Amino acid sequence: MSTWIKLCRVDRLNNGEMRAFNSENGKRILLAKLGDKYYATDAICTHRYAELSEGFLNAEEKTVTCPVHLSVFSLIDGKAQNPPSELPLMIYQTKVENSVIYALI
Ligand code: FES
Repeated sequence: MSTWIKLCRVDRLNNGEMRAFNSENGKRILLAKLGDKYYATDAICTHRYAELSEGFLNAEEKTVTCPVHLSVFSLIDGKAQNPPSELPLMIYQTKVENSVIYALI
């Protein structure tokens, strides 16, 4: 069953930034802010072990690029857009309450 997991306060993430968090249930979550929207996905690449927060955020395309073999993932639906990764990232719904960002995990 999914639960809302607290990630951070809104003032800890500026527009155009991304950051990884260890959630209370042991998952590592990537949170990105683009415009007035927050995007939460798994923080580890689906190809091999790589921290996507060390990759590249593309605000226009709403994608994150893995820093190791450069697969690009959509922050909207998690799909891998180029090899070597073929598996999508899990994506998570987000909400803000009392200036705190949550993800439904
Ligand atoms: S580890 Fe991310 S594409 Fe290979």
